[in-house]
Amino acid sequence: MTSWPGIAQTSSEYTFLRDLRKVYPQILSGKGNYLTTKDGREVFDACSGAAVSCLGVANQRVIEAIHKQLKSGTPYLASSFWANDVVEDLSKELIQGTNNQMGRVYLTGSGSEAMEAAIKLSRQYFYEQDPKTPRVNFIARKNSYHGNTLGACCRERVVHV
Ligand SMILES: Cc1ncc(COP(=O)(O)O)c(C=O)c1O
Repeated sequence: MTSWPGIAQTSSEYTFLRDLRKVYPQILSGKGNYLTTKDGREVFDACSGAAVSCLGVANQRVIEAIHKQLKSGTPYLASSFWANDVVEDLSKELIQGTNNQMGRVYLTGSGSEAMEAAIKLSRQYFYEQDPKTPRVNFIARKNSYHGNTLGACCRERVVHV
């Protein structure tokens, strides 16, 4: 493992974990609400994933759904070039979840991308009506978190660009 001046030995040589000076548990596997570490400890995982990818730990229904989709030969079709029943079903469910207040869905791969898309969509909506629109500001709470893209970071009022 590479050692860096001023930085303690970390749990990963190749990735950026949250704090480079901290040693994080190495996770081997998971079941139910528990994760098993490489050194044999069991960790209770109360949130089962970050907010927007909260898929649980070894959830059988999720595993089977992913497996079924992979076997269909069309693992990822949520693009703007193809229509697909699975994407259609998910979109319909999401729309119904808004009590049909929303009419269309734009699927993304992460919360950061969703934020980025929302920023661009709302900006474009008003720009199309008036290129000189004064509606260029977004309201954000101080130190909130909306993702790791530049647009999302700017909304967090942590980084100013
Ligand atoms: C409100 C909110 N927006 C955006 C994000 C960013 O999502 P992702 O980490 O999937 O890019 C998160 C992640 O926790 C979030 O809670």
